[in-house]
Amino acid sequence: MTRSLTIPRPDDWHLHLRDGAMLRAVLPESARHFARALIMPNLMPPVVTAAEAHAYRDRILAALPEGSSFAPLMTLYLTEETDPEDVARAANEGLVQAVKLYPAGATTNSASGVRDFDRVRGVLERMAEIGLPLCVHGEVTDPEVDIFDREAAFLDRVLEPIRAATPDLRVVLEHVTTEEGVAYVREGGRDIAATITAHHLVINRNHLLVGGIRPHYYCLPVAKRERHRRALVAAATSGEEGFFLGTDSAPHPDHAKESACGCAGCFTASNALSILAEIFEREGALGRLEAFASLNGAAFYRLPVNGSRITLTRQPSEYPAKIDTPDGPVTVFDPGFSLHWSVSA
Ligand code: NCD
Ligand code: ZN
Ligand code: ZN
Repeated sequence: MTRSLTIPRPDDWHLHLRDGAMLRAVLPESARHFARALIMPNLMPPVVTAAEAHAYRDRILAALPEGSSFAPLMTLYLTEETDPEDVARAANEGLVQAVKLYPAGATTNSASGVRDFDRVRGVLERMAEIGLPLCVHGEVTDPEVDIFDREAAFLDRVLEPIRAATPDLRVVLEHVTTEEGVAYVREGGRDIAATITAHHLVINRNHLLVGGIRPHYYCLPVAKRERHRRALVAAATSGEEGFFLGTDSAPHPDHAKESACGCAGCFTASNALSILAEIFEREGALGRLEAFASLNGAAFYRLPVNGSRITLTRQPSEYPAKIDTPDGPVTVFDPGFSLHWSVSA
């Protein structure tokens, strides 16, 4: 049995850090294990312009623990007013690595997102020219569409038309949750990839709903049927270059989750790597964890693989049940099984 595994330090290609006191409370959890993370821009108000991304990056760097070399990679929040030239300048300066598309109303803090996709055509064309990826929250918001079908509907109704109109656009289907999404990425060539979260590799919709509603398993896109979870596990453990880790670790204080109308988001920054090692070990795929967590994302974003390395050791992993923040405790995602892999520097 494999007892230890050394890989280049992983990156998290989809992370919510928030701002202010919450940022300071959760950032150490990501900085401990990850070298870099792609920081989501859904603050209130959102990070829309290059100047806002610059200021947000400075606040993240100022909040880093002493001596940490964690690098935040920034994204811009796409709105119908986004200026293509502001985006291009930010990309050329190396300030932003992607632009994020939220269909208006699809998820947490998405009210400023896109309603009319024709109105962002100019930005998307500019991004295609310079090779800047578009990261998409891939769910339609049409109230007629069942929440469990919203990702599959997004592929047909939104993503396929965007890609047909802008064939050179590079796209990341964020937090893919369905076998349709996995198949779409597999068939889509080199310009499309998908991030997969740790929690969607663990839970299906029964975990969320059977025996009582589990607010800490509620996230968007919502966990689907078991056959979809199996498709995600197969994709993540395949080593295929189009699939890589984006934890979507998304802190909400417990009072906002354990509520009559609970917020969407799972907080996995503290234990995502231990969870992944467990899943990959069960699949007999530990040798491909490196591709998923450390290599494929860097290749897609055309960045070097991290020079430093981490070692995962087969020994029980301890992680806090909750992170204390001035806004109240944030519950760490409970995979429902004990974790046998610990990360050491
Ligand atoms: C995210 C959040 O809380 O910001 N929540 C979630 O359930 N995934 C937003 C998102 O990534 O859609
Ligand atoms: Zn999302
Ligand atoms: Zn997210």
